[in-house]
Amino acid sequence: MPEFSTVRVAPAHRVEGRIRVPGDKSIAHRYAILAALAEGRSELSNFAPGADCRSTVGCLRSLGVDIQEGPTGTFTVFGRGFGTLRAPDGPIDAGNSGTTMRLMAGVVAGYPFTTTLIGDSSLSRRPMRRVMEPLALMGARLEATDGHPPLTVHGARLHAIAHTPSVPSAQVKSAVLLAGLHADGTTSVVEPAATRDHTERALQAFGGQVSVDGLTVRVSGGQHLVGQTLVVPGDFSSAAFWLVAAAALPGSQIEVENVGLNPTRTALLDVLRRFGAHVEVDVVDGSGVSGEPRGTVRVAHRETRNIEIAPSEVPGLIDELPAIAALAAHGGRVSVSGAAELRVKESDRIAALVAGFRNLGIDADERPDGFVISGGRQPTGGVADAMGDHRMAMSFAIAALAASAPSTIDGADAVVISYPGFFQTLDQIVR
Ligand code: S3P
Repeated sequence: MPEFSTVRVAPAHRVEGRIRVPGDKSIAHRYAILAALAEGRSELSNFAPGADCRSTVGCLRSLGVDIQEGPTGTFTVFGRGFGTLRAPDGPIDAGNSGTTMRLMAGVVAGYPFTTTLIGDSSLSRRPMRRVMEPLALMGARLEATDGHPPLTVHGARLHAIAHTPSVPSAQVKSAVLLAGLHADGTTSVVEPAATRDHTERALQAFGGQVSVDGLTVRVSGGQHLVGQTLVVPGDFSSAAFWLVAAAALPGSQIEVENVGLNPTRTALLDVLRRFGAHVEVDVVDGSGVSGEPRGTVRVAHRETRNIEIAPSEVPGLIDELPAIAALAAHGGRVSVSGAAELRVKESDRIAALVAGFRNLGIDADERPDGFVISGGRQPTGGVADAMGDHRMAMSFAIAALAASAPSTIDGADAVVISYPGFFQTLDQIVR
């Protein structure tokens, strides 16, 4: 079904249903990349259907990897082992995906050829120095315009480094670890705060060795990875929008099945409990067939309390903050600080959230490093612009359910980045 660029969202009394969400975007990027570097065939089922992971697949194909897409969302990757990527014929396109650009920069840094990574207008505004600096210290030569894409990587023989990223970032950690696989010696990353650990888990799933000691992660170069059959769990960050809707609208109850429950991703559940929601989690597979736990989450509305998100919570909630903002559209107050990183996501998410919420008739204030949304009165509804950002489109849709009149979301087709079918599921669960 096509995604429409403008979508009308009607007010709702409540949401109800049992649903599944598409495969996890963060995990699918890593599985595709490691499958390409592994020896032998990998079958990746429930692969994330959004445009971002297709960008990663496209980049890997441009580097000579044979990847076939089956009819049911399973991707088969024919890995040829370490050191076998070939020079691309031209620039490789990361589309809208920061994860693709940063992780692929780490991959190609150890190859004896030059790769230029390009992206769309949003990605071309995003900071790349955070990966350029460590990869240059490892021995690659990188060029960009004022730290922004296009990003050209002149690969080289790499040596291990010990890197402490200046911001908590799973993308930076992963870029350095992926480069470390092709480096002489043991590369370590010391994180300023814990971030999602999918690269570490995926490396182990593909037979690699990685050591984790508190906030320090180490990999040694020249490892042998082996192709695998893996099932990507549902994307918790996509489920977040439904869980928030269920917590916010009186009389609501939502069950999301087969969703990823990696503890580095599920901090939202505590936020929803603090908000006053009833939250139940059934872990179906705790160790995770592939090292990624998964299960069922049930959320029901109970109360509406004010929520304050502290800076220390931000790394664990970074992709859920747009959903959390939508809580307050339904009542209560949400304040977030220490989240300046939101300004360098697919859009300036602080500015875009505040502008969109105000257009929907919701009291919203911008702070240099966060925002305050106050749900003291019923939103009027209005026209909100997603600013080309998938998570803005979904946040505005959940906020618009609280309004007294229908709302319009411009640029709603941005949902295809992580959640094709978002608006169809919304239609199914609103009452
Ligand atoms: C991601 C890491 C986070 C997150 C992004 C996906 C990943 O970005 O916001 O959506 O898959 O590693 P940062 O590493 O920039 O924090």
